[in-house]
This record gives sequence, structure tokens and C-alpha cells, in this order.
Amino acid sequence: MPTDDGNSLESIRALNNPNNNPRHIAIIMDGNGRWAQKRFMPRAVGHQAGVKAVRKIVEYCAKQEIEVLTLFAFSSENWRRPEEEVSLLMSLFLATLQKEINKLDRNNIRLRFIGDRSAFSEKLQAKMAEGEAQTQNNTALTLVIAANYGGRWDLCQAFRTVAEKIAAGELSNQDISEQLINQYLSTADLPEPDLFIRTGGEQRVSNFLLWQQAYTELYFTPTLWPDFDQNSLEDAIRSFKGRQRRFGHTGEQLLDQSISLK
Ligand code: IPE
Ligand code: IPE
Ligand code: MG
Repeated sequence: MPTDDGNSLESIRALNNPNNNPRHIAIIMDGNGRWAQKRFMPRAVGHQAGVKAVRKIVEYCAKQEIEVLTLFAFSSENWRRPEEEVSLLMSLFLATLQKEINKLDRNNIRLRFIGDRSAFSEKLQAKMAEGEAQTQNNTALTLVIAANYGGRWDLCQAFRTVAEKIAAGELSNQDISEQLINQYLSTADLPEPDLFIRTGGEQRVSNFLLWQQAYTELYFTPTLWPDFDQNSLEDAIRSFKGRQRRFGHTGEQLLDQSISLK
């Protein structure tokens, strides 16, 4: 067994330090539509309220020195929604970027997008590229927006690149390993998510980060996304800190300090 793959007992013990914040939090922001419906308002109002919740959670994560926050904003399956809702979501996405990029930049936040952006309007794609370029050297929180993202899409695009490199003779079949696949995923330069949160009560992953969440701690809450605030996030982080992450080891191996590196 290699000892330096980040899964040694020592590094796992370090990860289990109860003072440690998750480095990377990934959130499925679900429940905007139901939040609005409960108030007899159109779903659009729920999405607008959802943007306000995003702002507060981003601020909080930056303040807490979380390294990466990934937010699922639009899935590769959300195109199946009524045209009117898709078009509202696209306008809201653009308007939010227009309004927030400078603010993110001022707060030293690095903005990134994952997903197949070729399906978006040119104007939106340009704004996304501008936001990434403007904030690329920022060093506080990395804010990753998953837009037209699907975990299966991510794997397919990685496999396609690897296949192309094999065809070009730059790689061989023998080079395919977990590390290699990681390098071609849209999240290649990011740590794996430590904590996954899904609001809105559904207990499913809905094609979010499939490969990357192999060992992520999952947290589900019935709170609808527009109601998810700092206290809700603190509850999730508290739950995370109370867990023992084992990565295949036994609990005893982690607790017994006399057992050391393999
Ligand atoms: C999540 O809220 C936001 C997006 C998918 C864009 P929903 O719109 O899915 O809200 P519910 O699940 O219908 O309440
Ligand atoms: C997942 O929510 C996608 C986003 C939050 C962007 P959905 O509301 O689309 O998920 P399903 O359809 O209930 O699984
Ligand atoms: Mg939903």
C-alpha cells in the first residue's frame, strides 16, 4: 500500500480533527419552487429568493475560510423544465453575474464554472468567461458554479479526452488510473468535496458530482433553499465535524494512536 496517497492513517486522523472545517462544501440548492408555491407565488419568485440565499452562504463561507464552495445552479437535466422557467433561470443567471462579479472580486473570491457551457447564449458564455478571468488570481474562497452540469457529462468529457490522447499516442491504455481520470474532470484542480448538502428534503444526488463524492459526507435537510441560512449551514458543519471518516479503515485503527502508517 502506498503511504502517501492522502489515505494513510495519519492523514485520515488529521482529517478527523473535530476543529477542522470542511475544505470543500458542495450544495444542491433545492426547493426554490416549493418555497414560492407555499406562498402562492410563481416559481420565479422562489428562484429570486434563492439568489439571496446564495449571497449569504457565499459570504459566510468566505468569512469561515472555507476553501471551495460548489453550488449546483442548473443541471444537465433542468432543460426538461417548461421553456418559460428555463428562460427565467437563464436571465436570472446573467443578471446575477452582471451584478455580483465585481463584488466577488473585491472580496478576493475566485469564480469558476463547471458544466457544458456551450449550450448557453453567447452573452452568458462571455460573462462567465469574464467572471473567471477577472477573479482568477483571487486567493480567498473558490466559488464553483455548476451550470449545465451533470456528473455523467463530466465523466464522458474526461473519457473522451483520454481516448483522444490514446488515439494520438500521447497516453496508453496502461496509463488509465484513478489519478489520471481525476486530471481530466472539470474539478481537476480542486480538493474532493468533504461535505455534500442537499436542501429541500429529497435524498438523492441528481447527477451532481458522481465520481468526486465517493467519500464525501452526505447531509440532507428539509429546509428549502431560500430559507437556508448561516445557522442552517452551521448545523450541517456541526454534523460533519461529529462524524468519523474512515476511508475503508476501521474505527479502531483511527483511534488507536499506536497503530501507525502502513
Ligand atoms: C432548485 O429548486 C433550483 C433549480 C433546479 C434551478 P427547484 O426549482 O428544483 O425547486 P423545487 O424542487 O421545485 O421546489
Ligand atoms: C437538482 O435539483 C439540480 C439543482 C439544484 C440545480 P432538481 O430539483 O432538478 O432535482 P430532481 O429533479 O428533483 O432530482
Ligand atoms: Mg427541485
